[in-house]
Amino acid sequence: MLEKIQVKKSDAGDALKGVDCLLMIGGEKSGFDVSLKGVTVEPSACWQAAQREKDPVKDFMIAGADKPVAIHCLPLKKQGETDYQRIGAAAGTRLRAKPYGSVVLALGDDLEIDKDAVAALLRGLIIAAEPKLSYKKDDKAAKPDDIELTVLHGNDALSFTKKQLKPVLETARAVLIARTLTAMPANHLGPEEFKDYCLGLEDDTLGVRVLDRKELTKQGFRGLLAVAQGSEQPAYVVELFDKRAKGKPDVSLIGKGVCFDSGGLSLKPATSMPEMNMDMAGAATVVGAMWLLTRAAKPVGYVGSIGLVENMPSGTAYRPGDVLEMRSGKTVEILNTDAEGRLVLADVLDWSAKEHEPKVLIDFATLTGAIIIGLGHDDAGLFSNSDGLSEALLSAAKAADEGMWRLPLHDSHRKAIESQVADIKQTGGRASGSATAATFLGEFVGDRPWAHLDIAGVAFTDKDTVYSPSGATGWGVMMLERLVETLSAGKVGVDKD
Ligand code: BES
Ligand code: MN
Ligand code: ZN
Repeated sequence: MLEKIQVKKSDAGDALKGVDCLLMIGGEKSGFDVSLKGVTVEPSACWQAAQREKDPVKDFMIAGADKPVAIHCLPLKKQGETDYQRIGAAAGTRLRAKPYGSVVLALGDDLEIDKDAVAALLRGLIIAAEPKLSYKKDDKAAKPDDIELTVLHGNDALSFTKKQLKPVLETARAVLIARTLTAMPANHLGPEEFKDYCLGLEDDTLGVRVLDRKELTKQGFRGLLAVAQGSEQPAYVVELFDKRAKGKPDVSLIGKGVCFDSGGLSLKPATSMPEMNMDMAGAATVVGAMWLLTRAAKPVGYVGSIGLVENMPSGTAYRPGDVLEMRSGKTVEILNTDAEGRLVLADVLDWSAKEHEPKVLIDFATLTGAIIIGLGHDDAGLFSNSDGLSEALLSAAKAADEGMWRLPLHDSHRKAIESQVADIKQTGGRASGSATAATFLGEFVGDRPWAHLDIAGVAFTDKDTVYSPSGATGWGVMMLERLVETLSAGKVGVDKD
């Protein structure tokens, strides 16, 4: 991760000494007279040339101080905090493309920028600069760890101390924790390794509790264990909590952690299987977020519960036609072993609701392919029984610049999962596949306000996004950081409607 960062007022004449990349944001009107005092570069000429060529993000090799400098002019259309996060990401994407060592980012004096905006800019920059997880022996990709980034500006009030930079670096690290876990191949990150990774995160404030097979059996996780029984890999539920928090939590975060989803006996086609190592992205979001939230000065009343399994076909696998009695006691008619996520989540939701008695439940899951058909890779699908909670989530997502779109839960969806032989059916047919899956989950949350986020489209993409290269994104961590602010501000009630 890019973390060698200084943010300071430019006062020396040797600002560009040894620098091999200069990123300019703003400065089209004012130039960089203050920011780069004494340097013989004429940035406004670069802007003009850039505009002439209709490519304001073209590289310019010019003679700067003591060697040629690659100059990137990055235009900023609007000046909201999200826009700064995005322009930072545009800068980060540039750094991901080429292995620069020493980088100056100059902020023009014509920017209306405050410290929060600089923090947003850096957040976007760091997470976008991170390359794809790679197992190449001879990797020529940029190494953000080696980059020395100096942000220069002309305003005393914008400088950051090391301590002030810490929260920015922590947010970025949390996103990258989620992203890396999601990207890891299933032979590197099975339920066992994922559980060990969580234990490795434990510190003074982050507590980790593991429920192993024996405990899961005792506690009646029959749905989760049915999914796991086709695999040689063990199953775990891992809980993450703030050691300083007292009393019942405000929010339970639940994550789907299917470390590999082959589909089980209802085997997936060969072409859709290779990326199914990402089917634990919901759990990764919960882990990244809990790591981040428990580092704040004040204890956070959030508890995370993730269900870690592998879905495989074998002689011991569960079958279509089976009837399961879930942890809650409800019976479920199994129709398709590839609809495994809802079974795992149902038991973890039931557990988390009863064990912790939180005010609110929120689950994260790469639950359905249908959500990708409906919303593409831009927005997570939000389903909820609470308008207040939905409002809080949507505004947190907006502030974090992470896409989210609410979809309805109707009685017709409940009808679609009525079964002739059990309390409910596992799947509701092709129509509204994401909504019937959400409705299934809703059967296991009791009367609590609850929200389900189907992140199959946003957790993993086939194209580069604003913030990340193609593949895993780490979606949801920044949204959850904002949610703590939104909910604790008490602006929204989170009652069940
Ligand atoms: N993990 C998949 C959903 C998924 C699909 C995630 C594509 C990411 C990309 C989930 O377990 C699944 O297989 N869902 C089925 C449900 C169906 C059998 C009712 C699906 O979407 O096809
Ligand atoms: Mn599946
Ligand atoms: Zn799955």
